[in-house]
Amino acid sequence: MRIEEQQRLLSILKTGFDQGGGEVYGDGIVRSPLSDFTCPDLLAEERRVFFRETPLFMGLSTDLPDNGTYWADSQTGLPILMTRDEDGEFHAFANTCRHRGAQVVPDGRGKTPRFSCPFHAWTYSSRGNLIAVNREQRFGAIEKSRFSLIELPAAERHGMLWVKPTPGGAINVDECLGGLEDDMAHWDLPAHAYAASQVVPANANWKLAVDTFGENYHFDVLHRKTLANDIRGNLQTHDIFGRNYRMVFALVQRFEQLGEATPNLNEWPFRSMTLSVYFIYPNTIFLVDAAAVDVVRIFPDGDNPGRSRTAHSFYITERARRHFAGHLFEERFEGFNAVVQKEDYNMAASTQRSADAGIQAEVLFGRNEPALLHYHNMHRSGLGRPLLEAQASAG
Ligand code: FES
Ligand SMILES: [Fe+2]
Repeated sequence: MRIEEQQRLLSILKTGFDQGGGEVYGDGIVRSPLSDFTCPDLLAEERRVFFRETPLFMGLSTDLPDNGTYWADSQTGLPILMTRDEDGEFHAFANTCRHRGAQVVPDGRGKTPRFSCPFHAWTYSSRGNLIAVNREQRFGAIEKSRFSLIELPAAERHGMLWVKPTPGGAINVDECLGGLEDDMAHWDLPAHAYAASQVVPANANWKLAVDTFGENYHFDVLHRKTLANDIRGNLQTHDIFGRNYRMVFALVQRFEQLGEATPNLNEWPFRSMTLSVYFIYPNTIFLVDAAAVDVVRIFPDGDNPGRSRTAHSFYITERARRHFAGHLFEERFEGFNAVVQKEDYNMAASTQRSADAGIQAEVLFGRNEPALLHYHNMHRSGLGRPLLEAQASAG
């Protein structure tokens, strides 16, 4: 993000901060049907279109820190093996053996020049080539070059890793970013080392889990004892980048301190005064704070529309690693889970129960929750469904 853009955002936040509330960006009130969270046919369509046919932001370049490293991840529903080969090139493969289809590499991370399938020990290189067939004479003649792991479109750009979980075609990351290239380049993502990851289950549709990251109208209520101490509620910026979205929040103590001590906005350090929250279509929330970046990937959990999984990884700068030495990883997950799992996803699960009960047909998004309309309409347009519209009032 360029300096001018940072200052534009800081200026919006400062005005809102001083006035005790920010601008409201939405055109009106939106009615959103609860059947979007319960319909098994819709979920089947979403799983095909969003989680197989759409390029997905998987993580950062530092998930594969050295040549010869790998990361096996099954969260999309398809086991995926990501590798960095001996020349440093990023690859992604369906993590399924060409012999009998077993998962070749257990989910996890590591470094190895070759992968041996746990079923009968067929062995593949980090470029996916089948390099050895156990007891080949007995098995029978096989043309190895025709039985490489199935390669998936993969791209690495701005320190981000992208994969499309269906073979064929190529990924244009800048097109996926829709104008966020500047921001991503600015954050210097390759300087953030992979720290740790966790998976958080929720009894809520995956879109309801995404929605909890879509407004801060709720901070002073639901998070009054947690996040609201650090981040000013009812104050955000609002910017759309193609299918993606960016909102920036103000850190209370930093704005209070610097508002007094340093009236000139040009001297404000953007990153240490804000939390930037990005929605990266179709399923990822990307967070940037002073010490770390978080990649929060939200997935349906099987074919139950009322369940989801959040795969959360975070990455830290070298300075932050020295500063927090040792305790950071647990503390960060504890802090994240105290807010997201215990508060946000608890509310999402209660909305899911309402949806399942069928007691009301719709819920409402206010003018002060503009990101929700954007998320829902991007998902709708991805499936060719009619878009939701804002109305002047609800009644
Ligand atoms: S299924 Fe992998 S070696 Fe047999
Ligand atoms: Fe929240």
